[in-house]
Amino acid sequence: MGMRYLTAGESHGPQLTTIVEGLPAGIPLEALDINEELARRQKGYGRGRRMQIEKDTAEIVSGVRHGKTLGSPVTLVVKNNDWKHWTKIMGIEAIDENQEEEMKRKVTRARPGHADLNGAIKYGHRDMRNVLERSSARETTVRVAAGSVAKKLLSLVGIELVSHVVEIGGIKANVDSSLSVEELKKRTESSPVRVADPQVEQEMMSAIDEAKKNGDSIGGVVEVIATGMPAGVGSYVHYDRKLDGKLAAAIMSINAFKGVEIGIGFEAARKPGSEVHDEIGWDNERGYYRKTNRLGGFEGGMTTGMPIVVRGVMKPIPTLYKPLMSVDIETKEPFAASVERSDSCAVPAAAVVAEHVVAWELANALVEQFNSDRFDTFADDINRQREYAREF
Ligand SMILES: Cc1cc2nc3c(=O)[nH]c(=O)nc-3n(C[C@H](O)[C@H](O)[C@H](O)COP(=O)(O)O)c2cc1C
Repeated sequence: MGMRYLTAGESHGPQLTTIVEGLPAGIPLEALDINEELARRQKGYGRGRRMQIEKDTAEIVSGVRHGKTLGSPVTLVVKNNDWKHWTKIMGIEAIDENQEEEMKRKVTRARPGHADLNGAIKYGHRDMRNVLERSSARETTVRVAAGSVAKKLLSLVGIELVSHVVEIGGIKANVDSSLSVEELKKRTESSPVRVADPQVEQEMMSAIDEAKKNGDSIGGVVEVIATGMPAGVGSYVHYDRKLDGKLAAAIMSINAFKGVEIGIGFEAARKPGSEVHDEIGWDNERGYYRKTNRLGGFEGGMTTGMPIVVRGVMKPIPTLYKPLMSVDIETKEPFAASVERSDSCAVPAAAVVAEHVVAWELANALVEQFNSDRFDTFADDINRQREYAREF
């Protein structure tokens, strides 16, 4: 049995909540581990006013005692600081149809590119606020919170993750592939657009400014790299146990993500096999290794032990200050779509979200595969796997 998590909460509701179940007992965990990651998600050039209102911090309200996980569900709560302004509009109590105050933020003009119209049709909501409050990427806050717990677990067994932006609005970073994870981290953490190539940083920021000025938005590509995963994690025996498949689903499930690549990804379509597959070598120190890593750490749905490289494509944010045309569901008249407070580019923040959903899937795969009731036996098991795979 692996781990699972649920998230709950509306964008302008009182709080966001996640319950993480299946963590080994005995993992050192404190709110700081989570809060550092939440702060990283809020940074990034191109974010709108919401990120200045919300300084997200998580409270651990179950599953941890005296700084260590208990093996029981860990509940994390992130309060919405803006809630005080929304208590009427988002109130829990029943209201009459004529209570103007509560209804005044009713949304009847579907925003193209959002869940609004499909969600309204599916659940029968005439006020599309009932959809957008939950479909909002505000939910990714608690996905990062859950992922930060996974990331902590991974770091304690020698697995490190880094995420960076490789493209924004058609401007591509040229990242030196020999950079260490540490160097990559250092560069991206100090970059307002989370890019490791200083040459294009300013160009990307200008592209964001330009989009904002035009009431438009731009997307991009993010990359997540994970090092230290032992070989042979995941499985080839059944479709829903393939770890590369799970990573792809995790990335695609992030709001606004439209594509996933592992390793050289779509490039593989344009190259001969000799330039796609990675030759296998063995030496005493590393054990089995690949001479290149074009397949991004996966063969047959399992880890090869090489760095895992996953990329995701984020579409431009759909809410535009110069709105696209849409239809009012009350009158069926054409209207400019309604504007909810919005960013012009959230690719840097999305890189942090991608890093955390990848962390979750990797941690979950390890918890599924190895002895995981206790953290100490879990860590021993993983080290044994590394030794075993090296000598195999
Ligand atoms: C970190 C992050 C921030 C986002 N911020 C916004 C935003 O401010 N405004 C907006 O319209 N969409 C934003 N989005 C994208 C929408 O949430 C997303 O496009 C929408 O929920 C529809 O889902 P889909 O694009 O996956 O189909 C953001 C996405 C992410 C990952």
